[in-house]
Amino acid sequence: MKKGTKISILGAGNVGATIAYTLTVSGVASEIVLVDINQNKAKGEAMDIIQGTALCPPVNIYAGDYSDLKDSDIVIVTLGSARKPGQTRIDLAQGNVNIIKSVMPEAVRYAPDAIYVVVSNPVDIITYTILKVTDLPESHVIGSGTLLDSTRLREIIASKIDISPKNVHADVFGEHGDSSMVPWSLASIGGMPMSLYLNAMKAKDPNFEGLDLAQIEQDVHTSGGQVIKLKGATFYAIALAARHICTCILRDTNTVVTCSGMVHGAYGVDDVCVSLPSIINAQGATRMEVPDLTAEEKEKFVRSATVLKETISSLEI
Ligand code: LAC
Repeated sequence: MKKGTKISILGAGNVGATIAYTLTVSGVASEIVLVDINQNKAKGEAMDIIQGTALCPPVNIYAGDYSDLKDSDIVIVTLGSARKPGQTRIDLAQGNVNIIKSVMPEAVRYAPDAIYVVVSNPVDIITYTILKVTDLPESHVIGSGTLLDSTRLREIIASKIDISPKNVHADVFGEHGDSSMVPWSLASIGGMPMSLYLNAMKAKDPNFEGLDLAQIEQDVHTSGGQVIKLKGATFYAIALAARHICTCILRDTNTVVTCSGMVHGAYGVDDVCVSLPSIINAQGATRMEVPDLTAEEKEKFVRSATVLKETISSLEI
């Protein structure tokens, strides 16, 4: 009988290794496997983490190969190159698509029942590619998508109005990238529609000027790039996003998460992976009913999905 929970991570670069560390510290899994073409790197990362495990929840973490994916509950995909300063996620597309095409059928052979959490960039395109080159059900392939953009958005709003980001319910839809959009009409703060909350703040404090929504949206677009410019890579926030998705799966929480997955007709968009709210539980991700958006928001979402569709048609998948 299977005991505990097993998560395999494909790719032991900055992102894969940080996800392994984050999962370890959080006690989310009892077994973690790191697989990388550079076996010493995977081994070194696993050893570095395991040497501290006397001081954290029990976990068996080791470097392995594809056959070690067997019985994984979750496989996290971080394969491929990461963005370098000045590069967009789309710039990485064909190279990372090629890696995914060559390894994923093999990975899925060993772990056909696992839920795949996709982090590699461009994440929407890679999520789409995995669905095209394997027989995995759509609900079992979850792109981290704009979950990260949404946590960035929540943090930016929270810091401007001095409230916990946990009380800010605002999401980013669309591409995990420069064309993503914020459906402001759905945003709420502390259980109140955001516009009413901001009006109440203005009534209390005449010096409060409100929020510059266009600027905030722009800041969300550039925030990952700024980190890359400063430190060469992003890995902590994305690791927390991956951990969140894993927790929702392993604890069967039915949590609403804005993440990437196949879209069938929402807002007239079809056959592309892009982020919209989904419910995540032990069965994977299922799309929620699409919420009403304003005409302008809808147009922005469709534009973002179109950017991805155009990229897909320019690639060999
Ligand atoms: C970022 C990378 C993970 O936005 O795409 O930080």
